[in-house]
This record gives sequence, C-alpha cells and structure tokens, in this order.
Amino acid sequence: MLRILNVVGARPNFMKIAPILKEMARYPDRIQPLLLNTGQHYDLEMVDLFFQDLDIPKPDLNLGVGSGTHAQQTARIMMAFEPVCLELSPHLILVVGDVNSTLACSLVASKLGIKVAHIESGLRSFDRSMPEEINREVTDLLSDYLFTTSPDADENLIKVGVPKEKIFFVGNVMIDSLLEQLPKARQRTILSRHNLQNTDYALITLHRPANVDDSRIFAGLLDAFGAIQNRIKLIFPAHPRTLKNLEKFKLIEKIRQMPNFQILPPLGYLDFLALMDKAKFVMTDSGGLQEETTVLGVPCLTLRENTERPITITAGTNLLVGLDPDKIVTEAVRILDGKAKQGKVPPLWDGSASERIVQKILDLFE
Ligand code: UD1
Repeated sequence: MLRILNVVGARPNFMKIAPILKEMARYPDRIQPLLLNTGQHYDLEMVDLFFQDLDIPKPDLNLGVGSGTHAQQTARIMMAFEPVCLELSPHLILVVGDVNSTLACSLVASKLGIKVAHIESGLRSFDRSMPEEINREVTDLLSDYLFTTSPDADENLIKVGVPKEKIFFVGNVMIDSLLEQLPKARQRTILSRHNLQNTDYALITLHRPANVDDSRIFAGLLDAFGAIQNRIKLIFPAHPRTLKNLEKFKLIEKIRQMPNFQILPPLGYLDFLALMDKAKFVMTDSGGLQEETTVLGVPCLTLRENTERPITITAGTNLLVGLDPDKIVTEAVRILDGKAKQGKVPPLWDGSASERIVQKILDLFE
C-alpha cells in the first residue's frame, strides 16, 4: 500500500489538491492518501468555504501554524511537519503550488529521505522579489517527481539541470477543479444577490505584497479603478491582507468616492467562480486567475510586471499590464470598446491532469 502524505496550507492549494485526492480515492487497495493542512491560512473564508465547496475531506492532521514573517511561518511549519513525517513514514509527500507550506514541507521531507512530488513545477517569473519564486526554485530543486502544467515549465527545469526523467508534463489540476465545479457554480445566486448581470461588471482581486503593502502603488491602482468604474461596475472580493492595508493606509476614503465600486469579503470557490465566469473582464495580481480566465475565455489584465505563467499570454486571454494606472485604464477601455484579446485553452488543460498524475505515481512506485 502506497502511503502518500498530501500537503495543503493556503487558499490556492485547495483547488489543486481536491481533484488529486478524489483520484487517489479511486484506488483504496493501492493508495492510502493522508491529508495534512499546515494551517498557513485559517480564516473561515480562506479555508472552510473551500473545503466545503470542493468536497475536500477533513484533514487527517492540522498543524495550525497561522501567520508570521516568512522565516517564522516557514520554520514553524518545518518544526511541526518533521515529527509527523517521522511518525507516519510516508512513501511520498505531495506538495502543490508555491506557497510557504510547499517549500517548508518539501525541505523537511527531502532531508528525511522521503520522496517528494511537486505539482505545478517549473513555473518561473525570474523575479526573486516575489517570495513564491524562491519557493518554486527550492521546491523544484528538492523534488523527485516534477509534474508540469505547460511545456515552458519543462524547459525551465531542464535549463537548471533537472533530469528529463523526473519531469512529467501532465496538464493543470486547477483546471480539473474548475471544469468539475463550473456547472455547480452556474447555479449560484451570487450575481443576482449583488444586482449583477452577465458581463455588466468587471472583477478585481489584489493581494500581492508588492501591490498592497506599498501605499503609493496601492493608491495608484485604486485611481485606475476609480476611472474604470465610470464605465463599468467593479466587484472586489478582498483578501484579509488587502483589507487590513486599506484601513492602515486610509485608502477607504478613496473607495467611498467610487459609486460603482463594491468591496466584498473573500468568497468561497463556487461563488468566486460564478463571478469570474460572467465577468466582462478580470483585473488581478493572482497567479491562478490568469489560468482560470484563460480557460473561461474571460479577458484578464494582470496587474504585475511579470508572470510565471507565460502560456496564459502566448495562448490565452491574459495581458500583462503592469502597475501604471494610465496603462491599466487604457487596456480596460480597449476591452470595453470590444477589442479584447482572444485566446485558446493550452494543451492538457482538459480536466484529466489529476488522473494522469495518480497513474504516473502508481507506475513509479509499484
Ligand atoms: C499566501 C501565499 C501566496 C498566495 C496567497 C493566496 C506565500 C508566500 N504566499 O499569501 O502565494 O497567493 O496566500 O491567498 O505562501 N491572513 C488572515 N487570514 C488568513 C490568512 C492570512 O488574516 O486566513 C492575513 C494575515 O494578516 C497574514 C497575511 O494575511 O499576515 C498574509 O498571509 P500569508 O499566509 O502570510 O500570505 P498571503 O499574503 O495570504
């Protein structure tokens, strides 16, 4: 029996682990899947709503680490994770994405000689000012099995010397969740509850430290939204970090002056998917949304200077616009004037990535 310890910690991990756990559950005689939540995120809206919406089973273990500086958070996860690994001696630990939990757990496991599988390997922004880039680089270096979402990721790994035999291009597990949950999301009433109709609004998310921890940049982005909301309603479900900084930098006043701009608390997976599906366009600094909008065919303006997901630009609906308020407004107006970028769905983003991953793991271990 193959004992696999699956790790999650933060919101963007949950939609990636859900389809993998479902797939593992199809082999009760061959796989014993365990789920560990580090507790990096802990708010109801950041965690519980996602477990419910995505039918993720209750974790077997919860480390309850919470927030802190990067070093504190990473260290706390490592210290709590090591005894768990020693007690359970899993054959494999499986980590997803690029959050601090991903890095911390792969570091612990590899030092204990436990094999590590990394889902969503090889993505690179080539910008180490973004903490996730460091998490991606180190996790990939330590991993034994690297599962990728796009051919550019394979190339990035090969360039840093990862042997080809360790790399498996399997597609995108986050899209497995999206395609499975879309029919349910379309039943939700969130649009009508907020007085929204198909494509009569644009959706915003913003939480990167580079954007919301700097009051000048954050204020500039709000200026851009202020101009855009003269043309279309803006809906902004805000991350806890973003909400705290809006208060701290006294930017709430700016928002009060925008009649067409609505802030919501963080939403669950299905409500958020429902909003994204019917949005005229999305403005975001998230990684995952760049991919999800590409699959939904919704135009996406990425409010960052770089992206680790270039395929969403070369193939998809994503456009990297940076942080200049004028440029953001110009691109939003282009979309409103009917000149949105068209895109197509990248190869293997077809809903079956987790099936390919679990099959490959079984082949490797049995
Ligand atoms: C983390 C990930 C990021 C991901 C994001 C999605 C890292 C390095 N970053 O960033 O890649 O895109 O999650 O959400 O792992 N907070 C709460 N409640 C929560 C969680 C956080 O109030 O449930 C607040 C705390 O004040 C905390 C801050 O948000 O200090 C930041 O949380 P943290 O987990 O450190 O990083 P995120 O910005 O959420």
